[in-house]
Amino acid sequence: MAKERLDKILASTGKWSRREAKELARRGLVSVDGAAIRSVEEKFDPETAEISVNGQALCYRRYTWIMLNKPAGYLSATEDGRGATVLDLLPRELQRQALFPVGRLDKDTEGLLLLTNEGGLAHALLSPKRHVDKVYYVRTAGRLTEEDCRAFAAGMSLEDGLQCLPARLEILTAEEVSEAHVTLREGKFHQVKRMLAAREKPVLYLERIRMGGLPLDPELSRGAFRFLTEEEIEELRALV
Ligand code: URA
Repeated sequence: MAKERLDKILASTGKWSRREAKELARRGLVSVDGAAIRSVEEKFDPETAEISVNGQALCYRRYTWIMLNKPAGYLSATEDGRGATVLDLLPRELQRQALFPVGRLDKDTEGLLLLTNEGGLAHALLSPKRHVDKVYYVRTAGRLTEEDCRAFAAGMSLEDGLQCLPARLEILTAEEVSEAHVTLREGKFHQVKRMLAAREKPVLYLERIRMGGLPLDPELSRGAFRFLTEEEIEELRALV
């Protein structure tokens, strides 16, 4: 891989800003291949250089994968003149990494959103051919019924022409406001809302809680993010 400035390499981990990286190096806390490096302008190949900060080996990754617990009010876009995007929830150093959301959640939908700069894997995960399960927690106006479950399982044909793949509706509570889990194997525009509107049970609240084998981390508060672990990224690779 091409050589990069030391501050850029450190900042790409999201742990430090470039300014902080410079300060760490100035204090002699950054070493490369065993030697302290005090100038962050020096360039190294991040894939082969053994970089450590304060005695801890740096785990460099070519691509960044982030799990965000999306709050309502943010657009799943990289930039949008009309309002805040999910990238606004990340620190500046990460905003510089050309990250983009893996698929879209509506502005008012909350929960699990992945962001990455690894285009190949992201697009493979989104490909309609892959059928990666997405699970949503939903609250609807109106009492959900077994008939609704059967309609989801049969593959709904919506009035607007959308032919849906068979999906799973698992009722958690069936009251005037009902709760359920919905599992889709595709991700068409407003799909959960459109399917439930067709059953005359409009969505009041929607949250994505799982993508493939990856659940929304319960430790992540709304608006918070974390890096995916190596194992989680491998699991995503295994899906495609
Ligand atoms: N289905 C929807 O209707 N909206 C979302 O944000 C995701 C799935």
